Amino acid sequence: MEEQIKLSLPHLAGNENKYVKDAIDSTWITPLGPYVNRFEALLDDYLGVKNVVALSAGTAAIHLALDLLGVGKGDEVICQSMTFSASANPIVYLGATPVFVDSEPDTWNIDPQLLRHAIEQRIKATSRKPKAIVAVYLYGMPAKIDEIMKIAAEFDIPVVEDAAEAIGSEYNGHKCGTIGRFGILSFNGNKMITTSGGGALICPDEESARRALFLATQARENRPYYYHETIGYNYRLSNVSAAIGCAQMEELDWRVNRRRAIHGIYADMLRGNANVMVHSNPGSEFNSNYWLSTILLSDSSPVTADQLRQTLASHNVETRLLWRPMHMQPIYSDAPAYLNGVSERLFDHGLCLPSSTTLSDEQIRHVAELINKYTTV
Ligand SMILES: Cc1ncc(COP(=O)(O)O)c(C=O)c1O
Repeated sequence: MEEQIKLSLPHLAGNENKYVKDAIDSTWITPLGPYVNRFEALLDDYLGVKNVVALSAGTAAIHLALDLLGVGKGDEVICQSMTFSASANPIVYLGATPVFVDSEPDTWNIDPQLLRHAIEQRIKATSRKPKAIVAVYLYGMPAKIDEIMKIAAEFDIPVVEDAAEAIGSEYNGHKCGTIGRFGILSFNGNKMITTSGGGALICPDEESARRALFLATQARENRPYYYHETIGYNYRLSNVSAAIGCAQMEELDWRVNRRRAIHGIYADMLRGNANVMVHSNPGSEFNSNYWLSTILLSDSSPVTADQLRQTLASHNVETRLLWRPMHMQPIYSDAPAYLNGVSERLFDHGLCLPSSTTLSDEQIRHVAELINKYTTV
């Protein structure tokens, strides 16, 4: 049987075993320890910031960011509709309501003009402005974060950058995740780098990082007995997971280059195919990490995205439909949504392609050949 070509596998090729063994040998297997500190310092260095807090998941990081921004019962938070549910769920954890905003066709991320319209409409409807904006970098592609920040500043609304998929991506030379009030990263198994499960909160200053750490460790007050004035969470990253993360950081530059090279092969091989558009940086200010290479099929394609997914699966090639937008999810059917049809079209026509750094050029070329074969008549 042909080897399965997978979408995005964890890649463990360096010092993971050595560091994990060291963490276990040292008995630091708790959610604190030298590898957690080192992992945070490596992330600080990589991002050119000072206040990264390592956490148990990207979802936890979004939850803490919104909590630190004072989001609570009765508030509204604007969130990109075209995303994974974890971008929006923490809004609900805090008793607030998500307000979904559609995407724009070039970045696939939140449409700045629609964002402005949504803010104005929510102020009209509720006499209050939304408490925060969650902007997402889908598949690693930067959003138009400068425009988003400008609009957010006009209304004095803080922005949380959901850079779960975008470590290594840049907008105008700035690392994604370091531009908004808070940024978040994910180190889930399928991401650019992994800690098995994990995430990070990029904080704007020492004070908010200290507060994030306090909330992430059960909000225990500094007394000789357990004493709590605030509801806390158990969100710190374990030292064993951080040991994996430290090894993965040593490979990060290579990983980003490799994902970009994989995108380059797809772009080259599918360029002549009028039925397939490879999603690519829409301008020189964008520098995607291409966590996942993605395509959009034209209306005249002889197969739908889902038919192509099934055909490729029969060739042992794993692909995935794009995120189903949040406004199309039963859990969010009642949430306010400002729509322009873009995310629904993306969902209908788009596909994520195998992008694992474990794949060879030949395997990527094989996938592109299959796509060309089944999308041209
Ligand atoms: C866009 C987006 N936001 C948030 C998350 C949540 O991250 P985690 O799985 O680490 O909780 C993910 C990935 O899983 C994601 O893709």
